[in-house]
Amino acid sequence: MWSLCDLDLARAKKVIGSYSTVEVTADLATVLADDRVQAVAIATPAGTHLDVAMAALRAGKHVLVEKPLAASYSDGASLVEEAERRGLTLMCDHTYCYTPAVTRIREAVRSGELGEVHYLDSVRINLGLVQRDIDVLWDLAPHDLSILDFVLPEGVRAVEVSAHGADPIGAGRACVAYLTLRLSTGAIAHIHVNWLSPIKLRTTIIGGSKRTLVWDDLNPSQRLAIFDRGVDVAAPDELGADERRNMLVSYRSGDMVAPALPEREALGQMAAQFATSIRTGEASPTDGRSGLRVLEILEAASRSLANAGAAVALTGGEK
Ligand SMILES: NC(=O)c1ccc[n+]([C@@H]2O[C@H](COP(=O)([O-])OP(=O)(O)OC[C@H]3O[C@@H](n4cnc5c(N)ncnc54)[C@H](O)[C@@H]3O)[C@@H](O)[C@H]2O)c1
Repeated sequence: MWSLCDLDLARAKKVIGSYSTVEVTADLATVLADDRVQAVAIATPAGTHLDVAMAALRAGKHVLVEKPLAASYSDGASLVEEAERRGLTLMCDHTYCYTPAVTRIREAVRSGELGEVHYLDSVRINLGLVQRDIDVLWDLAPHDLSILDFVLPEGVRAVEVSAHGADPIGAGRACVAYLTLRLSTGAIAHIHVNWLSPIKLRTTIIGGSKRTLVWDDLNPSQRLAIFDRGVDVAAPDELGADERRNMLVSYRSGDMVAPALPEREALGQMAAQFATSIRTGEASPTDGRSGLRVLEILEAASRSLANAGAAVALTGGEK
């Protein structure tokens, strides 16, 4: 059986339409008390995630929560602890991790196709809805941070973050923000999020020692491009003394390949992963712990933002 629960009953009815057998209610307690309900997907504002998700877990339901997992690290940690104690699936909808493009990016990074990752640069800007309860960092950066968490090789993580932001329209919260992350390998990642840009950009560049990947999510005919173009540096001991005094840098200008991507709808993939995790108990790549790693960075970035961009150390989601 299926129920749609929203405090705004009229909105729920409008979403469901006139030709559905899905029950509509404003009473979450009744839904949670129903033994036929095994899983709950929560798409309410971030500030309500703790209460709604905790109620669902305590009622013995598997839970899928929209990003961000919760409004704070400690709220997220309570949810992860409760789910683990009860042996229930807790998953966060980091939607992009279920797109064909990000799946292919993960493969390119993890297989070594790009070589050693030198830098990541992500831009997510448009004329966005200025949120009432969260700043642009908490609204948009969860996407980039969850993608980073998903694609980086095992054992590589962000170790430090600094953030700068601005509120030029007096909204009471940052509407433009820049995050710089230092990775455990020494690589650098930069994320730019902005609600005030008249043009929409969704572009990520991942520069590696062998190849550089460019992801333009707004270009459906060529979302990904992998360039065999870049800078090679000769090892100094390969060179004689005279040569060493000259440039050690040479430029490589090879082919660009645009990988074919399957047509797959991310939300469908994500829901299928939720079902698989419930059935098998296998953790999803965007489980509660990945949600926590993202929350740790968001909180540290907020501290940095409030402290003129001072670097804040990260632990990798463990506290
Ligand atoms: N994964 C993505 O790409 C993506 C995109 C957009 C939004 N989101 C996330 O989805 C969530 C919702 O965002 P939105 O823009 O749809 O918000 P919204 O404010 O438009 O809608 C939230 C709905 O939740 C209802 N609600 C609030 N508290 C409730 C409660 N306690 N019980 C039942 N219903 C309740 C409200 O009545 C409202 O209809 C947020 O966490 C947001 O970050 C994710």
